[in-house]
Amino acid sequence: MSECFKDLGIKLDTSCFETQQELYYFNFLTKVLNKDKIFEKNPKLKQINDVLPFDCALLVLKPFVTYKWHKDSKRGVCINALVSDSNYFTCFSKNYDKPGVQSDIIKLDYKKNNLYLFNNQIYHTVFNFEKERILFSCEFNLNKNKLSYEDAIKIINEKKDFNSFK
Ligand SMILES: [Fe+2]
Repeated sequence: MSECFKDLGIKLDTSCFETQQELYYFNFLTKVLNKDKIFEKNPKLKQINDVLPFDCALLVLKPFVTYKWHKDSKRGVCINALVSDSNYFTCFSKNYDKPGVQSDIIKLDYKKNNLYLFNNQIYHTVFNFEKERILFSCEFNLNKNKLSYEDAIKIINEKKDFNSFK
């Protein structure tokens, strides 16, 4: 199992998206979504929310923008899906902070509307080309001190039958 990300094997139905609020969150234009509407069309997300509650939003990134290598200050783990037709990818590096000038990288090439569990505590960066990128993102109520990527996989597996996790 990848330590960086996990393809959940779940396709997101975006037809039910309803923006509740727009704000700037960690420099991202953020559109907070109505969770209950999403759950009507995405029952597996509801099942995850039942055991690990989260909030959902769309994170908008401008074209030809990258984001600095970082570990998230708040999130230990999240769920993401790319919902725009963007030339966009994420890279992880488990040894970004080692001495020297080169690091090993692992690429997450998002399949559109596919949900991924994302380890926010491994160094990562993003590259966006050509068009605005719109990422559907679920932020768990438990922060990095209370919920890790490994915890999330274990909890979801214990409660629900997500074969794709195994
Ligand atoms: Fe991040």
